[in-house]
Amino acid sequence: MTYRSLAFFAFSFLLFSCGNEAPPASESSTEAVVEAAEEAPASSSESELENGSEQVALGDTLFVEIEANDQMKYSTERIDAYIGQVVALTLKNVGEMPKEAMGHNWTLLRKGADFQNYATKAMLAKEDDFLPADLMGEVVAHTALLGPGESETIFFDVPEEAGPYKFLCSFPGHFGTMQGLFFVRQ
Ligand code: CO
Repeated sequence: MTYRSLAFFAFSFLLFSCGNEAPPASESSTEAVVEAAEEAPASSSESELENGSEQVALGDTLFVEIEANDQMKYSTERIDAYIGQVVALTLKNVGEMPKEAMGHNWTLLRKGADFQNYATKAMLAKEDDFLPADLMGEVVAHTALLGPGESETIFFDVPEEAGPYKFLCSFPGHFGTMQGLFFVRQ
């Protein structure tokens, strides 16, 4: 067990030990993102996150594996990429609930996009698998909506503007817990 996974374990234990005073899930996930942001080494070689998700750069390709589950969580909430890289991102839906009730996608919004507006309008776009056609200009890359046991790998160029980008699952009601930061570096 690495130091970071140990620290994360201790952090989780602390949360669960708080009983009724434990903060809501949204707060703890925000803290986890901040913690990851502070500790992430921004290494171009390999970084294994405390939850087992992996980001591995080979040549100009950044391989990222993310799991999505029935608890409406991604296995990672932070991705670090470099301008010039191609991302090969695999999303796996490891849940068992039917797609109609618990579908997942991975949708990366352009830098500066209105996250709340996108997430809200996506809820109404059932006929487009919750990827509203009139807001595709806000999307850098996305997977299909995946049902239980399904996975998909997508390839896209890292955007050429450094800074933070946000990703989410646009299935109705999921963006609160299924979101994260895609950080682009020079
Ligand atoms: Co989802």
